[in-house]
Amino acid sequence: MIRRLAIFLLILANSPLTGADEADRHKVDMPAPAASALREEMLMKLQALHQVEAALAAGKPADAAPFVERHLGMGAMGQHAALPPEARPGRYLPDAMFALGRQSHRNGSELAEALKADDRPRIDAALRDVTATCVACHSTYRLH
Ligand code: HEC
Repeated sequence: MIRRLAIFLLILANSPLTGADEADRHKVDMPAPAASALREEMLMKLQALHQVEAALAAGKPADAAPFVERHLGMGAMGQHAALPPEARPGRYLPDAMFALGRQSHRNGSELAEALKADDRPRIDAALRDVTATCVACHSTYRLH
């Protein structure tokens, strides 16, 4: 029991989310329509990651490339441009958070290219870099 607890604490201490509780994360304020647009965008990101895994499992990585470019890549930037200002999350993000988002999209486009090229080591590295930005942003910022 104590051994199990020790192992659990060791894993926790080495996890990138250590200390990322409510108090440590920077709260970002934005109007409800912008928050809801951001959350919808996030759900598409999660779906895109799932499509990557599904395409890899099916042995057809290139199938996921267009969806990944659209929702994780640079193709996802500016997608709220046609909405009224209060529904555009981008304008409410602190600079560092915006930069992290931009990096995430750059990594997403690299992932899309790697999928298209069906290059497994490149896909793995790009997936690592994309998910690193998910983790970095989520452990630093929150809306609620
Ligand atoms: C630049 C910052 C940033 C990046 C990068 C980012 N997220 Fe988010 N994400 C957020 C914020 C902020 C929230 C809202 C958290 C809250 O409700 O307090 C969120 C929420 C979510 C949610 C919950 C949506 C809901 O319905 O409440 C999911 C799922 C999610 N993100 C997935 C991802 C995935 C997958 C990635 C990477 C591919 C990612 N996010 C990258 C900032 C980011």
